[in-house]
Amino acid sequence: MFPTSSAPESASASRREQARMLLHGIRIIQAPMAGATTPELAAAVSNAGGLGSLGVGGADPTRAGEQITRTAELTGRPFMVNFFAHVEPRSSAVVTQSWLRLLESEFAALEAAAPSTLRPIYASAATPGENTQRLVDVLVAARPTVVSFHFGLPAAGVIEQLHDAGILVLVTATTPDEARIVEQAGADAVIAQGCEAGGHRGVFDATPDGDADARASRGAQTLDLVAAVVQDVDLPVVAAGGLMNGVDVAHALSAGAVAAQLGTAFLLCPEAATASAHRERIREEVSRVRLSSMRSSSTRTELGRQQRAAIDPTAFTSAISGRPARGLRNRMHEIGARARTLGVRVPDYPLTYDAGKALAAAAAAHGDAASFAALWAGSEVGRAREMPAADLVHVLIAELERARG
Ligand SMILES: Cc1cc2nc3c(=O)[nH]c(=O)nc-3n(C[C@H](O)[C@H](O)[C@H](O)COP(=O)(O)O)c2cc1C
Repeated sequence: MFPTSSAPESASASRREQARMLLHGIRIIQAPMAGATTPELAAAVSNAGGLGSLGVGGADPTRAGEQITRTAELTGRPFMVNFFAHVEPRSSAVVTQSWLRLLESEFAALEAAAPSTLRPIYASAATPGENTQRLVDVLVAARPTVVSFHFGLPAAGVIEQLHDAGILVLVTATTPDEARIVEQAGADAVIAQGCEAGGHRGVFDATPDGDADARASRGAQTLDLVAAVVQDVDLPVVAAGGLMNGVDVAHALSAGAVAAQLGTAFLLCPEAATASAHRERIREEVSRVRLSSMRSSSTRTELGRQQRAAIDPTAFTSAISGRPARGLRNRMHEIGARARTLGVRVPDYPLTYDAGKALAAAAAAHGDAASFAALWAGSEVGRAREMPAADLVHVLIAELERARG
């Protein structure tokens, strides 16, 4: 996996430089968010001078290709496409059945039948085989400027095939160790995802062992992680997690990042596919933070980690998908806590998601679209701003320029 001769070494150095220049010129990346990003959102961000992206980890190669084509129709500028690269689930039938037993009473209360088994509802780009090759073929044909992977590295040979097609490759890391693996695999930049980040934590090994959510919340915070990763790897570093305005982005750049990836900040944009119950919960949080900051002189960013955790409306739970993910607290967090107390193991990602989605659908059919749904959001969600994506990019860039003098 290491470059073995000076020719590949110089090719990889020149791609890193290309990535650095692209990211340096752009600074603001709209995070890929499966289920929330759309071609319209990605294109609006790219057309406004940021890097828009599509989170198509949940889509099959054909559907991913359609979304890429649509985005390319809406913008001639660079954009990014993102896939999941998780290890295949290893849970046993015993783990599956005890998890389904735990959920039985929830389904019963919603007058719905619990599923009798769990399916791995998402394919992984880390799994070699036909599906991953179809995905690579779609990407090689469409040639988006950047492809990124979450949860680990793609299958052997994928990065090389994307490079041969002139595509830059980014991979998420949550620790300096993971960042070193990303570097050795030949990626062109690393996304350093701190524990404030909304959505799934991109940890490579996410065995749901009962302590996974607590471990996730003890993870390095974004600015500390960026500073550590910059020291350890010779790759451009993108900061992700809890960055909501241009001042936050300026802090990330000062810590050594070349650009910042913002997810939650874009969830209220009209171009995002954020579900209405999810939007409503975010809006409520924004109002709550506005009210409380009127009453208090200290801002969230001035508070210590423990104080912030105490007022944090978000938390990690593996109970929805099988991997720790940060979202607005709801009934699923309580189910996760109950499972821990009872010693019931959460099945591996994405098996757990099959039941999580069925439960959310059953509740939605009863008019409750929020209690069991994945309301992914970062810990700074209360500072989200509602405006069209292009306006948000312009505001972020203006704030960043002011902050950096
Ligand atoms: C709703 C939502 C969905 C997400 N889905 C993905 C995804 O599909 N792929 C991915 O790499 N990251 C995903 N993430 C994580 C983001 O890439 C990024 O790390 C995170 O949004 C940064 O933290 P912030 O939300 O505080 O800005 C998601 C985040 C959110 C909020």
